[in-house]
Amino acid sequence: MPTTTPLRERPAWQELQRHHAEIVQTDLRTLFADDPGRGERLRARAAGLYLDYSKHLVTDETMRLLLRLAGECHLEEHRDAMFRGERINVSEDRPVLHVALRMPRDTSLTVDGVDVVRQVHEVLDRMAEFARSVRSGEWLGHTGKPVRNVVNIGIGGSDLGPVMAYEALRHYSWRDIAFRFVSNVDSTDLVEALGDLSAEETLFIVSSKTFGTLETLTNARSARDWLVGGLGSEDAVARHFVAVSTNAERVAEFGIDTANMFGFWDWVGGRYSMDSAIGLSTMIAIGPEQFHQMLAGFHDIDEHFRTAPLTENLPVLMGLLAIWYADFFGAQTVGVLPYEQYLHRFPAYLQQLTMESNGKRVTLGGDRVDYDTGPVYWGEPGTNGQHSFYQLLHQGTRLIPVDFIGFGRALNPLGDHHDLLTANVFAQAQALAFGRTEEDVRAEGTPPEVVPHRVMPGNRPSSVLLAEQLSPRVLGRLVALYEHNVFTQGAVWGIDSFDQWGVELGKVLATRIAPALTAADEPSLEHDSSTNALIHHYRTLKDS
Ligand code: F6P
Repeated sequence: MPTTTPLRERPAWQELQRHHAEIVQTDLRTLFADDPGRGERLRARAAGLYLDYSKHLVTDETMRLLLRLAGECHLEEHRDAMFRGERINVSEDRPVLHVALRMPRDTSLTVDGVDVVRQVHEVLDRMAEFARSVRSGEWLGHTGKPVRNVVNIGIGGSDLGPVMAYEALRHYSWRDIAFRFVSNVDSTDLVEALGDLSAEETLFIVSSKTFGTLETLTNARSARDWLVGGLGSEDAVARHFVAVSTNAERVAEFGIDTANMFGFWDWVGGRYSMDSAIGLSTMIAIGPEQFHQMLAGFHDIDEHFRTAPLTENLPVLMGLLAIWYADFFGAQTVGVLPYEQYLHRFPAYLQQLTMESNGKRVTLGGDRVDYDTGPVYWGEPGTNGQHSFYQLLHQGTRLIPVDFIGFGRALNPLGDHHDLLTANVFAQAQALAFGRTEEDVRAEGTPPEVVPHRVMPGNRPSSVLLAEQLSPRVLGRLVALYEHNVFTQGAVWGIDSFDQWGVELGKVLATRIAPALTAADEPSLEHDSSTNALIHHYRTLKDS
């Protein structure tokens, strides 16, 4: 990768700083009034996705400078290095190849002498065979009954993708099988998930890239105890437990036959793994054909990201806009507001994708950054959010760029619900952008003392993303869009978007603290005074 000048010293960054001072002098009302074609010009389309970014605090000059910044940061070279399988995850010395998970069967990509596309399709074929046998009732449990319940046990990327995809694609799912997802080490999660299930008809998928994650192994052990307790034999495990992991040794150690293991590779990050074998529950739910449709959707956007000019490249434009607000306006967060009930876990999924990826404070070279990196991503489906936190979006003191996500057709059409839903998407984007002036409020006969309360400042940025109808293919496109949006941000910031060292310390400390909580006798405490006092108080509560 070319050696680089510090980000803030790049010419485009400095010009953007000057340009920002000009932009804040204008507003969206003026920008639209002066340019009747703005709404048709500041938009981009790819693979059935329509991105309207005209309601952002940008001009053509802003976009030109942001794209120049991308060029100065060698975004395209970074992108191509990823697609070639180079070790761009420098701190873990690994390639980053989730894009290979969705490459068509007739393509190939050789990394370290191995055709990874062939490996991917071998696993996909085994998954399909297994999914078909579960769906058809051919796969029988220990007592000869077919599977009626599938419980995925995993956490982080081994949970959020499967849950989000299951919920998002529920319309396409096989309703004869119930799906549950257990992630939290809080026993309530497992106990509630299993409460009404029959062990004879339950299949557990233990999903863990490392097969060393405390929460997942603890839940998997308890699930095994539940199963063996229910069926009265250790032999039952073989018919009721399968594993998804990169670590065959640990899977075997746990007691799952590696013949019932579906593998993936260290070049797939946990948060980029929902389309690997980690998607086994998704494949059982929607069937192999639909799963392949989802992969095709991912691939559509991979190809767009890889080949489209940056000026029309949706993930690039979205990533650059995120940088614009984070670094030049000091925006701390980005809201993602899907107007599709089936996408209700999409913001939660994006939280890991975006924040575990770009929540970094040093550059690839290890230097402390002197600019803001990953913003906080959050969100809820509309219209529900409108009746809770949108007040702050409209009239609060903070600038919060948001992504609205809407669809042309409902999956469950009912009267005029969908038109009303969509009217709200457009209305919210309009209200955020243009607000309501003091003049308008007065003209409505509002009492003078109430006028300031009713003024809507407007000038609040949003994107509107529209797609035809939620389907496996469209979901794949949406996820890939955000993956490459995150990539774009990380490449400009010059950080490693593919490691997650920040989550390690807490794990280590928890294993140090746990013995003091479980010890029968009062332990000698060697922590800081706050932690010591908390441990002491917890032990009192526990014994009370
Ligand atoms: O703790 C963070 C993390 O490592 C995530 O990156 C990952 O998705 C999750 O834990 C689960 O890890 P595993 O799949 O190895 O159990």
